[in-house]
Amino acid sequence: MTAKKILFVATEAVPFVSTGGLGDVIGSLPAALKKLGGDSFDIRVILPLYKSVDNSWLQKMEKVCETTIPLSWRNQYAGVYSVIKDDVTFYFIDNEYYFSRRFLYGSFDDGERFAYFSKAVIELMPKLDFIPDIIHAHDWQSALSVIYLKNHYLWRKEYSNVKTVFTIHNIEYQGVYGFDIFNDIFDLRPEDRQTVEYGGLINLMKGAIVSCDALTTVSPSYAGEILTPEYSQGLHPVLELNKAKLMGIINGIDINYYNAACDPDIYTNFTADDICGKAKDKEELQKLLGLPEKADTPLITMITRLASHKGVDLLTHAVDELLSKDVQFVLLGTGDYHYEEFFKRLSENYPAKAASLITYNKELSKKIYAAADIFLMPSKSEPCGLAQMIASRYGAVPIVRNVGGLRDTIHEPDNGFTFNHYNSGDMLYAINRALEKYADKDEWQKLVIRVMKTDFSWDVSAKKYAELYDTFA
Ligand code: GLC
Repeated sequence: MTAKKILFVATEAVPFVSTGGLGDVIGSLPAALKKLGGDSFDIRVILPLYKSVDNSWLQKMEKVCETTIPLSWRNQYAGVYSVIKDDVTFYFIDNEYYFSRRFLYGSFDDGERFAYFSKAVIELMPKLDFIPDIIHAHDWQSALSVIYLKNHYLWRKEYSNVKTVFTIHNIEYQGVYGFDIFNDIFDLRPEDRQTVEYGGLINLMKGAIVSCDALTTVSPSYAGEILTPEYSQGLHPVLELNKAKLMGIINGIDINYYNAACDPDIYTNFTADDICGKAKDKEELQKLLGLPEKADTPLITMITRLASHKGVDLLTHAVDELLSKDVQFVLLGTGDYHYEEFFKRLSENYPAKAASLITYNKELSKKIYAAADIFLMPSKSEPCGLAQMIASRYGAVPIVRNVGGLRDTIHEPDNGFTFNHYNSGDMLYAINRALEKYADKDEWQKLVIRVMKTDFSWDVSAKKYAELYDTFA
């Protein structure tokens, strides 16, 4: 049997470099597929070699090749390094000019940086001696790899059977640019105009949606939602035309990494069969943050990017009422300035009840998950959401809005609390239901155990991806 060759194209992956959920998925799905399929899969991942990739990884990498990549009138250097992790080969494209920056995203020339990356992926395949059966590209930064392959390269005999899967992790970010850089930067041709044009602009996500063979997003509910104007950020007409190839597959998480039983970053380890240690984690966090060490006061937490679609407004409206109750509140996250200022003031105004940590730190986040009684995630939209699953692994009971992947993973009364309408009254009502339950120690403990035992592994979803790949015989 020859192994099915799959090339993941993405711009972040745990543990090398990550800013959010995409990095978690690219860091765990390939390994899950490999575990499922064994020798029937040859899975490789290709990423930019950012400056922030840790030195310990750099030392493990081997140089594979170097070449130059044509991008319009440019010829840019590309070095390729590789490292094997969990039976998956990770390639890194080295170009200091494009990737030796302080941040992954947010440079004035992101369009050019990721056009170069996408072009390099397609150009490099023969040099890596890896022409995949399937290119699986993720989000707008990798969209041009699909667009180039399908519109510029299929005449190359060796590429003519390569199929493409494009996954939307978040439709809020589409890669929209003016036509002034159509040829000069994106190296697109007049005949590509209809592929990438949307609303008079270049829209890279749209270009990948129309070009790919299969289109996925990260939960079944979100797959339905993005067909509607409320959630599509304007792309619903394009998705409607392409919905025959659209499907939603819920993400899993790496349940070995997020594991309260052996996580070295939390104060005391615990399991669903013996949750005693969790009380210690709560006490230590209270101590660390200068909150009163009250074992019986419910600790409500939020770990989030401070962006409006995460539902932060609901909290800003409801927080005074929330803090009038016997609760403690801890927030960890960075983001929009006005939210950061709001939460800084909140902890000043309620020093004995609220602590805001305007930063992001993985170890600290796990300490908070492990300490929390309740994890709040009232998103306005949520393609999948991983935090509600991670929280569950540490026995923090999720309260979520019924939307996107939150709807598909959290069900009241089984493993959390939910509310439908995006308003702070409904959120407070769900919080009150949780607090009532919390008051009954036995019932609460049973709930925490159920929450911890919910299966959020990749097992089911990796199979769904494997089935999808199988449709391209
Ligand atoms: C994006 C989405 C999030 C999803 C993640 C991984 O970050 O906003 O909902 O879980 O991608 O797919």
